[in-house]
Order: sequence, then C-alpha cells, then structure tokens
Amino acid sequence: MVNIRLANADDLLAMQTVNLSCLPENYQMKYYFYHVLSWPQLIHVAEDHNGQIVGYVLAKMEDEADAVHGHITSLAVLRSYRRMGIARKLMEAAHRAMQETFQAKYASLHVRKSNAAAKHLYVDTLGYKVFDVEAKYYADAEDAFDMRCTFGQEKTAAK
Ligand SMILES: CC(C)(COP(=O)(O)OP(=O)(O)OC[C@H]1O[C@@H](n2cnc3c(N)ncnc32)[C@H](O)[C@@H]1OP(=O)(O)O)[C@@H](O)C(=O)NCCC(=O)NCCS
Repeated sequence: MVNIRLANADDLLAMQTVNLSCLPENYQMKYYFYHVLSWPQLIHVAEDHNGQIVGYVLAKMEDEADAVHGHITSLAVLRSYRRMGIARKLMEAAHRAMQETFQAKYASLHVRKSNAAAKHLYVDTLGYKVFDVEAKYYADAEDAFDMRCTFGQEKTAAK
C-alpha cells in the first residue's frame, strides 16, 4: 500500500533520489528546502509500506498580475510504482492545498512535448490545457508545453 502524505524536511534527500532516477531536470538540495520551508502545505510524498519514498510532487505559489496561482515544479514516481494512480493522487493533493490554503485560481506547469505519460496525466486525467508553447525551454533544447489547470474546471477522478 502507498500512502500520500505531506512531506517534511526529513524526506528531502529521498525526494531528490527519486528525482535523480526519474528526470533530467535536477535541483540542488537548497531548492528542495526552499520549497518545503516556503510552501509546506503543498509538498507531498508517496510512501510505501516500508517507509520508502516512491514519489513526490514539488510545488510552489506564484503571484502574477493575472491571479494567485500554484505551479508544479516537479513530479515523479519511481518506475516500479507507476500506473497505479500515485501521480494523480499527488497532483490532486497539491491542487487541493493550493486552493484551500492559498485560494489559487489555477495551477501551471511545464512538460516536455515528448512526455506522453505526463501529458496523459495532465490533460486526460486532470484536465490541464495547453496555454502556450515555450520553444527550447529545456537544457537540451526540447520545447515545453506551458499548461494550466483552472480550478473549478479540473477533472476529478472518482477512481
Ligand atoms: C508521469 C508520471 C509522473 C506518471 O506517474 P504514474 O503514477 O504512473 O501516473 P498515474 O498512475 O497516476 O496515471 C495517471 C494517468 O496517466 C496514464 N499514464 C501513466 N503512464 C502512462 C504512459 N506511460 N503512457 C500513457 N499513459 C500513461 C495512466 O494510465 C492514467 O490514465 P487514466 O487516468 O486515464 O487511467 C511518471 O510516469 C513519471 O514519474 N515519469 C518520469 C518523470 C516525469 O516525466 N515527470 C513529469 C515531468 S513534467
């Protein structure tokens, strides 16, 4: 069984380990601390029955001219735990906290054009829409979809 819970400072090394094994976008430990110290309500981990961290969502708040909104900085689930609904649950937990704690109007994120799994999760499962395309956004020059999920219009899975 995998439990979704709020992260704390003791989880950050394990989150970084998951990130390193899943994504080419990696961060220094101080960036994880920045998130968990600034927006502790948003950062969630997935923990298995042995206490191993098998997934995380790293998120933050942004206050731009249009509206207060959340931003998903990073999301990953270890390969052997995928297709079990863990990422959906992590994202829904972050979305809920963005709305309840910070009155966010929407959530934004960037995703590689080639990332079919993440696009399925964001668009088909959660109801994100492509807001813009950012050319050569990633270090290897791949384009990013800039996506947004407007709260109140998101898909809520009853699975
Ligand atoms: C993207 C990722 C987080 C999805 O995690 P997950 O726990 O397997 O996702 P879920 O089980 O919650 O699946 C959510 C939906 O996506 C679909 N999905 C998951 N992996 C998929 C794949 N490889 N291809 C197509 N659809 C996929 C699921 O079928 C599910 O769809 P449904 O709601 O229609 O049933 C995971 O593949 C991952 O960590 N990838 C590497 C890191 C990454 O790409 N992060 C996102 C960066 S923007």
